[in-house]
Amino acid sequence: MSGLSARRAAVASASGGRAGGRDSGTRVVPIHGPEAFAAMRRAGQLAAATLDHVTPLVRPGVSTGELDRVIERFMRDHGGVPATLGYKGYTKSCCISVNHVVNHGIPSDDKWLEAEDIANIDVTVILDGWYGDTSRMFVVGGRTSVKRQRLVDVTFEALWAGIRAVRPGATLGDVGHAIQRVAEAARFSVVRDFVGHGIGRTFHEAPEVRHFGKPGEGLVLRPGMLFTIEPMINAGRAEVKILKDGWTTVTRDREPSAQFEHTVGVTEDGVEVFTLSPKGWHRPPYEGA
Ligand code: MF3
Ligand code: CO
Ligand code: CO
Repeated sequence: MSGLSARRAAVASASGGRAGGRDSGTRVVPIHGPEAFAAMRRAGQLAAATLDHVTPLVRPGVSTGELDRVIERFMRDHGGVPATLGYKGYTKSCCISVNHVVNHGIPSDDKWLEAEDIANIDVTVILDGWYGDTSRMFVVGGRTSVKRQRLVDVTFEALWAGIRAVRPGATLGDVGHAIQRVAEAARFSVVRDFVGHGIGRTFHEAPEVRHFGKPGEGLVLRPGMLFTIEPMINAGRAEVKILKDGWTTVTRDREPSAQFEHTVGVTEDGVEVFTLSPKGWHRPPYEGA
């Protein structure tokens, strides 16, 4: 995800398919057909399999740089390319965001995971020209504090509340509201500065998918729309800042943050989630990893 205004500027020329309405930035939202859904299924499954592949390696002492190399290799071995490589000057194959890092943590050989860390690994693959984008949380060493564990659990439930709100005739406001309700009922806060996004043959396009909102407001969902839902939930306040590297986003109060992401499509009768884990590793603890 990129910043709200950056996203708006970057995808003004998003194209493809019929117009399915306009999003909050008044950009046209493409409608895709069955061939696109088949391609998105393949790309989404490769992205999810990439996270499955790296899961057993997410242990105390591993560097995030090493995980990045394993991720790039797995994608290429399966005919894919890491979408983040060279994207707006980004030089890694994934983002790994630990503890109070909200998103876009840059993998490094000098950054080692420690027991009790909570880490998000976000991968995006391009397969046959189509994008699959997904992220999950990891609890390093299998145990963490009560607060961090609850944040991970609530963020997972918030994503799924959003996914369950997706159906033809529902609105993006319904989706955002469902997410916000779960987060705020737990007395956590929803990050406002980053959003989910339309996806398909481009990485980021219309619509902008906010993780907060009011029921009945915003874009009316139609079969054939493709987008990500990727709530970032903070244990403390919602405010974030971007570090001098231009990417790493952290919470201003240095309280922990969590995120899960799926790529979904609107179907005739609901929603298809393209990025489900083939191994059933949906939320930590990842049994058998
Ligand atoms: N995968 C992120 C998303 O969910 C985008 C990462 S862009 C990067 O949209 F350049 F930071 F890798
Ligand atoms: Co995304
Ligand atoms: Co992502």
